Amino acid sequence: MDVMADSKAPRATANRSTTPVSDTFKDFISSGWAEREEDAPAPREQTPYAAARRSALSKEYPGKRLIIPAGAAKVRSNDTDYAYRAHSAFAHLTGWGSDAVAGSVLVLEPTANGHEATLYFREAAGRDSDEFYANPEIGEFWTGPRPSLAHVAADLGLATRNLADFAGVIDSVDADTLILRDADRDTTDSVDGRRLLAADTESLETDGDASLARTLSEMRLVKDVYEVDQMRRAIAATAKGFNDVIADLPAITAHDRGERLVEGTFNRRARAEGNQVGYDTIAASGPHACILHWTRNDGPVVPGDLILLDAGIELDSLYTADITRTLPIAGTFTEVQRRVYEAVREAADAAFAIVRPGIRFREIHAEAMKIIAAKTAEWGLLPVSAEESLEPAHQYHRRYMVHGTSHHLGIDVHDCAQARRDLYIDGVLEPGMVFTIEPGLYFQPDDLTVPEEYRGIGVRIEDNILVTASGAENLSIGIPRTADDVEAWLARSR
Ligand code: GLY
Ligand code: MN
Repeated sequence: MDVMADSKAPRATANRSTTPVSDTFKDFISSGWAEREEDAPAPREQTPYAAARRSALSKEYPGKRLIIPAGAAKVRSNDTDYAYRAHSAFAHLTGWGSDAVAGSVLVLEPTANGHEATLYFREAAGRDSDEFYANPEIGEFWTGPRPSLAHVAADLGLATRNLADFAGVIDSVDADTLILRDADRDTTDSVDGRRLLAADTESLETDGDASLARTLSEMRLVKDVYEVDQMRRAIAATAKGFNDVIADLPAITAHDRGERLVEGTFNRRARAEGNQVGYDTIAASGPHACILHWTRNDGPVVPGDLILLDAGIELDSLYTADITRTLPIAGTFTEVQRRVYEAVREAADAAFAIVRPGIRFREIHAEAMKIIAAKTAEWGLLPVSAEESLEPAHQYHRRYMVHGTSHHLGIDVHDCAQARRDLYIDGVLEPGMVFTIEPGLYFQPDDLTVPEEYRGIGVRIEDNILVTASGAENLSIGIPRTADDVEAWLARSR
């Protein structure tokens, strides 16, 4: 199976290894350890939900063997890796989140009346193996113990097998096997090699794999009860992170890289409350607020300016919030800052007001744009009226908000990214969908089309919205969002 592994460069630790190799040492280090007693855990909360998702997937692919890898750890540089995160589709189908073992694979093997799911992962190595103490990549002394097959089977309610046995799955790969291609390069290469052999051809048809990726993405468009609860918790944790940042403003404004302190304060809350942040925190102060994905965060936070904080906490289950608030660093908005802020708030409120089952996703953006066009026309920024600007052939107002108003949200910050356009931007809203509403206005510091007083002001207000049976709920409504409420929020922490 691991043809590729042999051709990889070895991790560059052999040249500085000091591990003793004597038999005396090996005998000594592999002995004298207490037995580990472990009780089978009760199934975790998400177990029945993950089982229902696997059943739904099974019905879509009768007779197909489905391979969904969690993915390998990703190298950051040389022999150091990024923090491990399993593929979102794998997490969705197994319920295994931040504690997933790297390199695991979920296999749905077709049976007469559906599929049998098996989770393959590298189980704990024995203390008699040299992996235990001498393998910095996966050894227990280095990265901690891995769970046993029995433990994970009980925890996730899934049949489990050692990853070594996955070679047998690769051996049985045929034309009726589909793999989630982008999750793990080596496993995909192995599966492709087998399918080429099985089909006796030199070019592979991967439309089936693309359909699997699409289905896995589309299955996440409507959240179940567990997922909605996770979103509420992620948002509650994120609210605390915003409060922390406000409480730290004196130290933040005193530091020449105040944006880094904003990021650090928010991210500390993320680590304390969950797994980590769901995406790199955007701490964009002053004119940096006009840079949509400003994540360098190396600027000062200056009283008199606004700071745009776009941040979300990802829980251990990997569900993440995605919230933006724009705050006046000095505690109160200037007249022009307030004018821009309240225009964006009006756009957000107008968009939210139409959300209910049955409307199309793209109508939300269109509603926000009516306000953005009206306001920028009212301020004399457009060469035409708001009505003309809104015509598809014009769109002058989009110079000041080049991004879309909404995206689905869940395990990924930009969730369901492989869903078909028909189900996403052109899709019809259903209860259980969760997405952002995040209009903004960004007046670049060197934009000669706007009066000087607007230049360098960037505002975005982003909330996380749940479609309900009768309308919608703003899940992040508890985080102050009107100009008055934001000022009161800042005043409270002084
Ligand atoms: N929060 C960043 C984005 O939605 O792109
Ligand atoms: Mn967003």
